[in-house]
Amino acid sequence: MDEEAQARVEIWKYALGFNSMRAVKCAIELGLPDVLENHGGPMTLSQLSATVGCPIPALRRLLRFLTHNGIFKKELKLSKSQDPESSYYSQTALSRLLIRDKMATFVILQADPPAVQCIGLTAKDLKAGKGSGLDNRFPSEDIIWNVEVDAAFDKLLHEFLACYAKIATAALIDNCPAVFEGIGCLVDVGGHEGTAMGMLVKAFPWIRGINFDLPDVIAGASTIDGVEHVGGNMFECVPKADAVMLMRILHDWSDNLCIDILKKCKEAIPADTGKVIIVEAVIDEEGGDEYTSARLAMDITMMTVTINGKERTCKEWAQLLNAAGFSRHTIKHMKAVESVIEAYP
Ligand SMILES: C[S@@+](CC[C@H](N)C(=O)[O-])C[C@H]1O[C@@H](n2cnc3c(N)ncnc32)[C@H](O)[C@@H]1O
Repeated sequence: MDEEAQARVEIWKYALGFNSMRAVKCAIELGLPDVLENHGGPMTLSQLSATVGCPIPALRRLLRFLTHNGIFKKELKLSKSQDPESSYYSQTALSRLLIRDKMATFVILQADPPAVQCIGLTAKDLKAGKGSGLDNRFPSEDIIWNVEVDAAFDKLLHEFLACYAKIATAALIDNCPAVFEGIGCLVDVGGHEGTAMGMLVKAFPWIRGINFDLPDVIAGASTIDGVEHVGGNMFECVPKADAVMLMRILHDWSDNLCIDILKKCKEAIPADTGKVIIVEAVIDEEGGDEYTSARLAMDITMMTVTINGKERTCKEWAQLLNAAGFSRHTIKHMKAVESVIEAYP
């Protein structure tokens, strides 16, 4: 196919991308990945229809789109006497990631209207300075929603953060266990309700974990073995520990506010043996790897949902860490959207 013909094919993906996301979201909300996972084997269309309570014609159309795109697999029955509705559907590696325990809530929130009605990204916004560090419309810089955050959305948001934390923490434990060797006490700054710290103390039982977040977030956190919950404000004071972790915190904030946060983290660790462990995307503008496209898309998300947040390049990370007074840092890449930056006082 020549370049122009290929472009004509590609453009449809962008034009219809939102509806494709909606189909994946519907599949999750119907519970199809979990139903197949719990069933433990292939299911017919009729069985799926009865289990999730969706009429066969619509379900067949939804599954036709999803199977074409590698989400679920359709196997036809060989016998001609079989009812055509009894084709078997089974899980694929992709649909297995869409179960509730894995990436379901993450995907749902990306496709949910409140997420797209976040402070937004339009040509008008960009011309007014959004994404350039010049947006001063709001007094605080964190993520801002344009919608009334009702109880249902709040619940989804909590599930989303726990789901999001599990994805990066699992990658961290698998790819970089050496980062946690010799750490007696670790504080996770902005650790929400402690999902990441709970997984870390389980994987590395020598660590005493402190989960630090805003007091109203900590008030809703459940007890986790080996983890102490502490409420506070990272712009004022961070609990003392051997090492501080900042997982997907700095991408929410402008450079100046990141420097303030990093300085508070530096004050919390021993000057000679301490370190700050930053788990964030590192944008590679020259080539990159199989996750580069996701990192660049996350940067567009940060431009949409935050005031002055962004994903940063190696050079931008170095500038930030130098400005906050760190003497050196190393970057370890993982098979994930995030990398691990270890910064030393
Ligand atoms: C995007 S979430 C990241 C959660 C978690 N680290 C992860 O990677 O899944 C940002 C977290 O920072 C917390 N946060 C925001 N402002 C804070 C502050 N001033 N002090 C402490 N935590 C704060 C939020 O409550 C939220 O839990």
